[in-house]
Amino acid sequence: MLNGRRILLIIGGGIAAYKALELIREIRRAGGSVTPVITRGGAQFVTPLSAAALAEAKAYTDLFDLTDEAEMGHIRLSRSADLVVVCPASADLLAKMAAGLADDLATTLLLATDKPVLAAPAMNVRMWEHAATVANIAILKGRGITIIEPDVGAMACGETGPGRLAEVPRLMEAITAALGAGVLQGRHILVTAGPTHEPIDPVRYIANRSSGKQGFALAGALAALGARVTLVAGPVALTTPPGVVRVDVETAQQMAAAVAAALPADAAVMVAAVADWRTEAAPAKIKKDGNGPPALALHENPDILASLAKGPMRPRLVVGFAAETSDVIAHAQAKLARKGCDLIVANDVSGDVMGGDRNLVHLVSAAGVETLPEAPKSAIAHALAARIAGLLNG
Ligand code: C5P
Repeated sequence: MLNGRRILLIIGGGIAAYKALELIREIRRAGGSVTPVITRGGAQFVTPLSAAALAEAKAYTDLFDLTDEAEMGHIRLSRSADLVVVCPASADLLAKMAAGLADDLATTLLLATDKPVLAAPAMNVRMWEHAATVANIAILKGRGITIIEPDVGAMACGETGPGRLAEVPRLMEAITAALGAGVLQGRHILVTAGPTHEPIDPVRYIANRSSGKQGFALAGALAALGARVTLVAGPVALTTPPGVVRVDVETAQQMAAAVAAALPADAAVMVAAVADWRTEAAPAKIKKDGNGPPALALHENPDILASLAKGPMRPRLVVGFAAETSDVIAHAQAKLARKGCDLIVANDVSGDVMGGDRNLVHLVSAAGVETLPEAPKSAIAHALAARIAGLLNG
């Protein structure tokens, strides 16, 4: 996918620096090349020798490497790549980038480059949430630097929260998206994800257990293949994948309107768990008045998928999802015809799939049924994105 694309990889300090070595391998496996530049802090965690061996290229360590301008000057080095990736980006390195300092090779290259820059921060949660880091990130984003948001989880320091370096597949997605490398170049794909919330009154709502993880992963995987992706998202606690344009909605009716507004599209992939029913929201909080529970009159929500698939603006490829707790494949086959879509991705949600990180899906189409091996949602997303690319490109 990265056929011949050149990446200048700046390895900052931090315990996550070892993942940069894994990233070098993945970039090379995808057909790209890597020139590693290791900061003084980074060199405390990975050696130039290991980076150079994996990259099969010289690893640069500090400005003195470049004093011999006959070899390669820092200006040339900063421009010889197609993309600059800072991974891990420590709080210190981000602060230097925001301030425009150039007191070592890495910061000099970052100041001299005219190429797109991706930064993958990794640090302790308090450092990540500190007002100084928040301000630095805002400055960098304002300058067009893409920040690959850190993951939330347990850290080497024993604390838990946002600050863990994004995993390698997400780093690769961001890199391929930034390079616009991919088979879905020039295509617009519409994705819906997450649940919808249907208000009962100003403080209560009807919802479901959808986390949005599968839809967000799919949107990221499609963008990584070069597609322009519009992601219409219900209320979820997830960060937007790189290269994806996100439209936040709350209710099914808002989702239907956002989907209509995003057309035309080459493909639509409806992953959202849209509430089937809504109720008339009371203008004020419903009180317990001693007369027993209130009756909620339910009204059917618009079927966004069916109206899209049967409407005048139908994308060439329409993919639906079917979350079932029994007779998964039979229900999916019925849904394929009823909703008028080309493919249904069916899964059994009687276990902990909703909100969980793994999934087992069946691809149901006129051609038959194919079951993909059980895998993390990110891997399922890549498999589905590749399948969608195949169907769109014939
Ligand atoms: O009918 P059911 O909810 O099982 O269908 C699931 C599929 O239809 C999913 O792709 C979902 O995103 C879509 N859907 C929709 N609008 C609805 C209900 C479902 O787009 N109101």
